[in-house]
Amino acid sequence: MASSLGRVGDGRDVSDRFWGEAHGRVNLIGEHTDYNEGFVLPIPIPQSCLVELTRRDGRTVSVSSDMDGREHLAAFEIGAEVKEGGWSDYIQGVTFALAKEGFSLSGFEARVRSSVPIGAGLSSSAALEVALLLALDRTFDLALDPVRIAQLAQRAETDFVGAPVGIMDQISASLGRLGEALFLDTRTLEHRPVRLPDELELVVIDSGIPHAHATGEYRTRRMECDRSAELLGVRKLRDVTESDRRRISALPPPLDRRASHVVTENQRVLEAVAALESADLSRFGALLDASHRSLSEDFDVSTPVMDRLVDLSRACTGVLGARMTGGGFGGSIVVATKRGTAADVAREILSAGSKMGGGAMPTIVVPADLG
Ligand code: GLA
Repeated sequence: MASSLGRVGDGRDVSDRFWGEAHGRVNLIGEHTDYNEGFVLPIPIPQSCLVELTRRDGRTVSVSSDMDGREHLAAFEIGAEVKEGGWSDYIQGVTFALAKEGFSLSGFEARVRSSVPIGAGLSSSAALEVALLLALDRTFDLALDPVRIAQLAQRAETDFVGAPVGIMDQISASLGRLGEALFLDTRTLEHRPVRLPDELELVVIDSGIPHAHATGEYRTRRMECDRSAELLGVRKLRDVTESDRRRISALPPPLDRRASHVVTENQRVLEAVAALESADLSRFGALLDASHRSLSEDFDVSTPVMDRLVDLSRACTGVLGARMTGGGFGGSIVVATKRGTAADVAREILSAGSKMGGGAMPTIVVPADLG
């Protein structure tokens, strides 16, 4: 489960210690659509973040974390959160967001352990925020529902960390369930699980080139989309469809290509859900390929290394389709394969990818038992 309900049923282990767990995600399709109020289809990965928490008197928060095999320590005061540019910003962002929404907390001690790769575009930060919110919810009886948890986690990123992200990652961490994709309409937040056909397997490879949301390019894309919507006279690009093609093409470059990506990507998500639900694997694979092309050529968020990793994947036996996943400029690729071939495909991509150069140091994330 992406946000499981506790080792002994209620997220409480011994005496006064509570915990929360949330998984990273890989987005199957629907990239850069969430902040345009469009559709997304993420699925949790097996790797997760676990936060154990004990309430303390006073306002001091102390956190120890083991997120990359090393121990890190941080401390701050509730109500005096200050951005530091590191992992503790996500913790401080959460207490900051809770205070903004009227929740009052005392201090606490937290221990964080995460197996979600960092900087791989697999939502390690959303997993941390949501796991912490689950633990805080249980410790302080905040009565938060899963959607509210996702919204608070998103607020931690946008208002405190300063990354203008959409809500996909936090919703996936809060509501996703292992083994099921989550079809989400980011405008209404309506969502439903989508089962993967038995004949389908997934491979996720981290390129080793870290991506970063707070960098200018993500923000620029967001602004370009908002400007395109404004010029087209709609609230968000979600409100534009293929029938507006002539008006999209008339936008000044690069807005024409940016809008074109979002409009076609939204359509691809709907088609991908239908393809999965009718077990049409070749159609699903073709949609992943088309999504990558659009992200690379129209939205300009891929890199030569990601393009080559995707090309390498497509050349492997058993591969149905492949694309970069997440915000882009590095991070991971997701590959759809026929059942029984994922392990071989993963090893083949890794072996070819490690000779590729260009800063790539690929590692296998899924299947997790190979990683
Ligand atoms: C990042 C953001 C998400 C989404 C993706 C791109 O992962 O956190 O909100 O915008 O990029 O699809």
